[in-house]
Amino acid sequence: MESINQNLKPLTVKINDIGNLEIGGCDSVALAEKYGTPLYVMDEDTIRGICRDYKQAFKNYSKVNMMYASKALCTMATAKLIASEGFGFDVVSAGEIYTVYKAGADMSKVLFNGNNKSYDELSLAIELGVGRISVDNFFELALLNEVAKAQNKTVDILLRITPGIECHTHEYIQTGHLDSKFGFDLTQIDEAVELIKNDYTNLRLHGLHAHIGSQIFETSIYGDEIEILVKEIARLGLNEINIGGGIGVKYTENDCPPSVYDVAEIIIKRLNECIEKYNIEPPALFIEPGRSIISTAGVTLYTVGSSKQVPNGRKYVAVDGGMSDNVRPSMYQAEYTAQVANKPDAKNFEKVTIAGRFCESGDILIKDVELPELEEGDILCVYNTGAYNYSMASNYNRVPKPAMVLVKNSHSCIIVTRETLDDLISHDRLN
Ligand code: LLP
Repeated sequence: MESINQNLKPLTVKINDIGNLEIGGCDSVALAEKYGTPLYVMDEDTIRGICRDYKQAFKNYSKVNMMYASKALCTMATAKLIASEGFGFDVVSAGEIYTVYKAGADMSKVLFNGNNKSYDELSLAIELGVGRISVDNFFELALLNEVAKAQNKTVDILLRITPGIECHTHEYIQTGHLDSKFGFDLTQIDEAVELIKNDYTNLRLHGLHAHIGSQIFETSIYGDEIEILVKEIARLGLNEINIGGGIGVKYTENDCPPSVYDVAEIIIKRLNECIEKYNIEPPALFIEPGRSIISTAGVTLYTVGSSKQVPNGRKYVAVDGGMSDNVRPSMYQAEYTAQVANKPDAKNFEKVTIAGRFCESGDILIKDVELPELEEGDILCVYNTGAYNYSMASNYNRVPKPAMVLVKNSHSCIIVTRETLDDLISHDRLN
């Protein structure tokens, strides 16, 4: 069965009666006029739809816990929406913890990850009652025990391990291979377990955690990961595994990400085989999808500005955003798909390169793309920008971060306000 992460566009995208792109029942050109551009637009039906795909796909394994990886996009409104679908959260900083807390998330369904959590962040996590902390290394075991002791609490933990699995994705977003900054090597687990048992008595170990990488299209590696995790928890007498996130999405017509239903089938099948093989009680299974939950639901609207024809070379068309609202093309050579929101049906195609407005030659959003001839004032809609766009946004060139709106049933509402010039200088002090 197909799942929403296999779509290029949000579920509600269509061309409306006046020939403009519509999303969530809202005219995208009217959204651009009302809220300004660049504008992140999030489609509520698509977010809820993929959450339901995940729940449906895993319904045959009763001990499953869905945790949304908030690093993909962390705002109060989206956190509240995803929490209302029954998801918990994977968080990696005090900022993410605070955001989901303020959004009203059930903190017992929150897992705190990361390879260098500070004393203060660990304290906050314990104070706010996060359900699990995934401990990444020996240094953190000692630190967390100290923090827990200071609060007179016993903290529920997992150990993050490096399973030694390589996936075929961009090198910067692989995490499960052996030479990784994340997690304990398999050969170090026993020592960590001994330390917890004998010395770190304010820690209670439940299981193991791994994450192989991101934007993964292969399905079989999830089976390999399950085998390693279950083998280890069986040996150690633990009863939880967290397999991380990583399922890919469709950025261009050439991308074929797997269906969440197919991945779930592989995971559950292998898990059941391993339960039998290693003769254990069914463990609690945690999964942490980020990108596949939020990416497809998001588009970014830009206004077209200047253009330049290089004699005998490329035509560059510049928009009013770029690498500060979407760093992925310049950081990972990521590819995106766009449509012209005010004339999606126009046929006068030409090959252009969509450039950002930042002072950096690498600030190119889409290279060599066929689009209807663009004119100043046109609204460009870039698809699949829900994940790792706003969450990685910067103020490079002192450009304010865009606003974000949530759309549903022909209604739009601001969920992140546009930064102002005064916001930009609000932390500056003249000496
Ligand atoms: N769990 C852990 C422990 C992770 O490190 C990550 C992502 C996830 C879950 C969620 O993975 P996802 O389902 O989103 O693939 N900035 C990069 C992606 C970095 C991913 C980091 N970890 C990008 O824009 O492609």
